[in-house]
Amino acid sequence: MGKITLDYSRTFISDEEIESLVPFARTAHDMLHKGYGAGSDFTGWLQLPQKIRKEEVERIKKAAVDIKESSDALVVIGVGGSYLGSRACIEALNHNFYNQLPIDKRRGTEIYFVGNNLSSSYISDLMDILENKDISINVISKSGATLEPAVAFRIFKNYMEAKYGKDNGKKRIYVTTDEHKGALRKLSQEEGYATFAIPDDIGGRYSVLTAVGLLPIAVAGLDLDGFISGFRDGLEDYSRDVQDNICYKYAMVRNILYSRGKEIEILVTYEPNLKYLAEWWKQLFGESEGKDGKGIYPSSVNFTTDLHSLGQLIQDGKRNIFETTINIIKPRRDLEIQRLADDIDGLNFMAGKTVNYVNQKAFEGTVKAHTKGQVPNLIINLSEMNEYYLGKLMYFFEKACAISGYLLGVNPFNQPGVEEYKKNMYQLLGRPN
Ligand code: PA5
Repeated sequence: MGKITLDYSRTFISDEEIESLVPFARTAHDMLHKGYGAGSDFTGWLQLPQKIRKEEVERIKKAAVDIKESSDALVVIGVGGSYLGSRACIEALNHNFYNQLPIDKRRGTEIYFVGNNLSSSYISDLMDILENKDISINVISKSGATLEPAVAFRIFKNYMEAKYGKDNGKKRIYVTTDEHKGALRKLSQEEGYATFAIPDDIGGRYSVLTAVGLLPIAVAGLDLDGFISGFRDGLEDYSRDVQDNICYKYAMVRNILYSRGKEIEILVTYEPNLKYLAEWWKQLFGESEGKDGKGIYPSSVNFTTDLHSLGQLIQDGKRNIFETTINIIKPRRDLEIQRLADDIDGLNFMAGKTVNYVNQKAFEGTVKAHTKGQVPNLIINLSEMNEYYLGKLMYFFEKACAISGYLLGVNPFNQPGVEEYKKNMYQLLGRPN
């Protein structure tokens, strides 16, 4: 069986430096596992891979079958942690043009995301796309009070009632929200929507293994069992002692780099369909670590595309960055480069090689160049991208983020800064009270 490995040999960090942080990482581990660290009320995700209830997973799978049977498309309404995890998985594991594929070439229904912005054009354009399709809706909001999904749900609730009638419209609405409280829970009870609960002790950005992520992922036809087993193995492997734990090493290395003025981490991918995995990662680390005047700024690029835009800055600009590359050894598909009789483009020297081979050489050449340009480079190698490895990788990042936050001296589970703009916005909108 393949695996996930971490290569930090190109970070300009010595073994002694890592060694000096080991006692702190052990303390961070205890804070997390023994529950005395800041934000310990929100660490339900830590043991979730073991505690996830079989009946809950079966209920999610059953709802996914119902949605697939009744609908051409699922509309997922949610923002931040209430959509980034599922979108990351659905895009990373599927065909790059999933929604456009003919139905017999897809494992699930089409999936569209809304309620993650306040663009009237986006919402209206989506409605054009949905016009002749049967749809179901999964509205996801833990608080039930977030404005972006609330506005979208108000619009789509009306749309469903107009399209299917009140009673039939209700049967196509699935709500994922807090178990007991909030406007969405109340509305669900009144309307009789099918509901899924988000545990109290799991915050949005750590919630991909709850119904928040699992229902849309299942509707896209992905293998939930493989995904959960990746999380389970992550829990086992990344709870080991720090000496034998690449997740903790990643957390330590990024903190050492931060202490040297490397204040920006760029997550590098070489597959376009990992864009939303990077978005999920940015939210995870940005919201968890960026507080109290501290935090590494999480950024991302997709190579080789962005080598033609941001490559210059990374190679030659201010030396306040480091890169973490997700390197997938075996691509989902590969393609051979053919020989041309006239070799008019001069590429015959690559004939017989595959496009992925070229992508790998681009990766190796880039790491070499950027390291030469004094940009520390971490590499996370994944044997392949499938449900299992994605689950394991997501747990790796969740755990690394928690440990890294404790090493940095912040509470990795709150997000007090997010409220500030909301206060202003509601005031400008004239909300009572
Ligand atoms: O990680 C978080 O807690 C946030 O990003 C939330 O997920 C996001 O603000 C959406 O919140 P809610 O699910 O309450 O609508």
